[in-house]
Amino acid sequence: MSDSNKPAHEGARYWFIRSKKYDGLEWVHKRSLISAIIKAGEFEKDHLVLDVGTGTGAVARSVSRFVREVIGIDKSAAMMKRGDWGENRYFVRRDIREPLFRDGVFDRITARMVFHHILEGTRGAMRECCRVLKKGGLMVLVEGVPPSEKVKEDFTEIFKLKEERLTFMGEDLVALMKGAGFKKTDIRYHVMRHMSVKNWLDKSGLPTAAVNKIYDMHRHASPVFGKCYNMVITPDDCLIDMKMAIVVGEKQ
Ligand SMILES: C[S@@+](CC[C@H](N)C(=O)[O-])C[C@H]1O[C@@H](n2cnc3c(N)ncnc32)[C@H](O)[C@@H]1O
Repeated sequence: MSDSNKPAHEGARYWFIRSKKYDGLEWVHKRSLISAIIKAGEFEKDHLVLDVGTGTGAVARSVSRFVREVIGIDKSAAMMKRGDWGENRYFVRRDIREPLFRDGVFDRITARMVFHHILEGTRGAMRECCRVLKKGGLMVLVEGVPPSEKVKEDFTEIFKLKEERLTFMGEDLVALMKGAGFKKTDIRYHVMRHMSVKNWLDKSGLPTAAVNKIYDMHRHASPVFGKCYNMVITPDDCLIDMKMAIVVGEKQ
């Protein structure tokens, strides 16, 4: 498929635009989330780690302090060029759906906020992760999820204005991993409290019209939406709780 026929988020231009402000997103460097990922990964000093859809390498950088080496893989050079690489962390430009590594080479795999962007070949991408993981190795899959089934439709509607993406609930992620061959899975949730909607929109590289529309949707959302997101409306922002699913799959 040529770049122009792909969904916007698949094209290099989409990530080139997003890369400019990406590191200013509040959630990207949120310590509590990074700590939850580190804890879930049970990393050890001799581990070789693959960070799928590494972007600007926020997860790769944090994990690299605990392991031997981290390889970040991403299809967007623009995103990776914004990262701080070196020492024991490197990047490779590649789509995870195109096999590159041998079977069973990695001790750990991390993939934060990537799979919702893989609209085509989602299962194949997960199978590829399972293939390159060692037996007994762990994969830590992290995705933002609606805080409740009650607002799944609102969540999908809001994100439709931002990008074409998949909406996962925790159980969908577990099913995705199990379907790819992970026999043992464990799911936990991490909530980042009082996150700024303004920050999220300002740093998302969206056109102003979309930013304004999504912001208004938050400010005029239903009471159910407000309650599920624990939304606080301030004079110049909306603060919401962001729920992240962290699924750990073990290859047996
Ligand atoms: C929202 S960013 C997440 C970056 C990073 N994991 C983080 O948590 O900060 C999503 C990244 O996934 C990458 N990506 C999307 N689909 C991909 C694919 N099929 N193969 C490799 N990378 C992909 C994008 O280029 C982008 O850098």
